[in-house]
Amino acid sequence: MRFKLHIWRQDDPSAEGRFERYDVDDIDPDASFLEMLDVLNYRLIAAGEDPIAFDSDCREGICGACGLLIDGIPHGPGQATTCQVFMREFADGAEIRVEPFQSAGFPVLRDLVIDRSALDRIIQAGGYITVTAGPKPEPNATPVHPEVQQAAMDAAVCIGCGACVAACPNGSAMLFTGAKLTHLNLLPQGQPERFHRARSMVRAMDEEGFGGCTNHGECEYACPQEISIKVIGELNREYRKAMVEKLRRRRGFMKPQ
Ligand code: SF4
Ligand code: FES
Repeated sequence: MRFKLHIWRQDDPSAEGRFERYDVDDIDPDASFLEMLDVLNYRLIAAGEDPIAFDSDCREGICGACGLLIDGIPHGPGQATTCQVFMREFADGAEIRVEPFQSAGFPVLRDLVIDRSALDRIIQAGGYITVTAGPKPEPNATPVHPEVQQAAMDAAVCIGCGACVAACPNGSAMLFTGAKLTHLNLLPQGQPERFHRARSMVRAMDEEGFGGCTNHGECEYACPQEISIKVIGELNREYRKAMVEKLRRRRGFMKPQ
């Protein structure tokens, strides 16, 4: 297969970026999008040109490192990570635009590589869980309803790829933050720090420059892990409860939590 690529090139975070055109041919239809970029890079290096910088790690849809905006769609066609997009999904001879994820919270480091550490700082703001370390506890000592367990595990599959942010017209990270909060706040182990976690993660999300949610729903559609938008409702609910708890505590109605 052959493709006409328009790829974003940017030398460093402060440099002005531009699209550059590359023609690639002799591409195996079963090559992944990243393998096609590998082939292009081998050819650029052989011609003495700078290869295109892009991120990847597992190349199995697990780590979330590889997100690209392909023809304006986070990760490209289909609800999968960029490493799981295959060239057979494009028409032979197609023109394809390739950019980094766009968000105030994701500065471009070089070409297609963005700095996603803002998402790590939101997780970090959520803190830790004060479960006692030591021998494995008896599972039946802490019963968890199967539906609660399932909802927590459904949220826990977030891989931190940032596609939800890139898809949202507001650049909101609420699907990501909701997923990271929900999987801890639903389970008994997450209860002692529950309210502190909600307040702290929402504050970190705002400080990182991500926008708010106005129910566009694009995040859910773009998420390769099919995280439900319900986690945003959960995040809002937990935040409201946390603020009420803070108010009550200030007025001396209850002990700190
Ligand atoms: S919620 Fe989905 S799209 Fe957003 S970071 Fe997690 S896995 Fe990626
Ligand atoms: S490289 Fe790990 S999810 Fe794509």
